[in-house]
Amino acid sequence: MLESNALLESPTVAAKAALPPVRQGSIIAIANQKGGVGKTTTAINLATALAAVKKKILLIDMDPQGNASTGLGVAHRTRQNGVYTVLMGECGMDEVISPSQVPYLDIVPASMSLSGAELELVSEKRREFRLRDALQKLPFAYDYIMIDCPPALGLLTLNAMVAANNVLVPLQCEFYALEGLSYLVKTIDRVQQIFNPTLHLQGIVLTMSDARNNLSRQVEEDVRDHFKELVYQSVIPRNVKISEAPSHGKPVILYDTKCAGSKAYIGLAKELLKREIKAKRLARGAA
Ligand SMILES: Nc1ncnc2c1ncn2[C@@H]1O[C@H](COP(=O)(O)OP(=O)(O)OP(=O)(O)O)[C@@H](O)[C@H]1O
Ligand SMILES: [Mg+2]
Repeated sequence: MLESNALLESPTVAAKAALPPVRQGSIIAIANQKGGVGKTTTAINLATALAAVKKKILLIDMDPQGNASTGLGVAHRTRQNGVYTVLMGECGMDEVISPSQVPYLDIVPASMSLSGAELELVSEKRREFRLRDALQKLPFAYDYIMIDCPPALGLLTLNAMVAANNVLVPLQCEFYALEGLSYLVKTIDRVQQIFNPTLHLQGIVLTMSDARNNLSRQVEEDVRDHFKELVYQSVIPRNVKISEAPSHGKPVILYDTKCAGSKAYIGLAKELLKREIKAKRLARGAA
């Protein structure tokens, strides 16, 4: 009793409690329930390209596979205190953020224990809001928070979508690409209706494209026909440097700045910044 009273009287706690929540910039969930379509590659390289123009970025690895953490060179032994501990309410988001090798880019890594989170959260209170609640308590702001989602539409991806205001969907240029897309779009709509009215599909980025391949071109045409301007003009080519970079623990933009893959991700970042400016202008006009 004495202890809790003393705590309440502590000036730091009182000051913290009185602070209004810090407003974050854009929060982007990078999601597609289909595996191996370029979510993590897009998360790492888009984050790096935006950090290169001095945007302050936080990348949250919400995938138990921990590929974003590996791709940014975060050692396994330093991952115990990752997003899992935050989701389970064991610590605050600010306690698990670490700087990456890229200036302006911070990361919250994923540990293996995150694979248990889906089950462990099922019976918890506010299970869908864990990430959102934690981000709302973050005492400092980022221009962009990117969340690398696992290849499933379970509680981890749901937490990402409830915390985010945008979903960016990487879509591999291959025959089955469109099959799961309508289900993903429906899921985004349902999350928007039930949990998070600010959520919307921000864009679709075509990945692993091979311009010489007819199928790649056909998929691109179909997706553009259907989703129009939601589809980014920048297309990420299939590029060997992109697939080599993670084994060096580096974003491709650091591994080989001049390769076609790096150029494509830098182009994507420029386009995303333009879209954000346009969206803000429209929002101001509507207000
Ligand atoms: N444009 C590209 N060119 C060549 N290889 C690529 C490209 N994009 C991604 N890859 C490789 O394809 C594999 C899958 O990519 P990535 O891990 O980004 O997909 P993912 O959607 O995050 O997968 P998962 O669903 O398992 O999380 C990786 O080995 C990655 O290095
Ligand atoms: Mg991944």
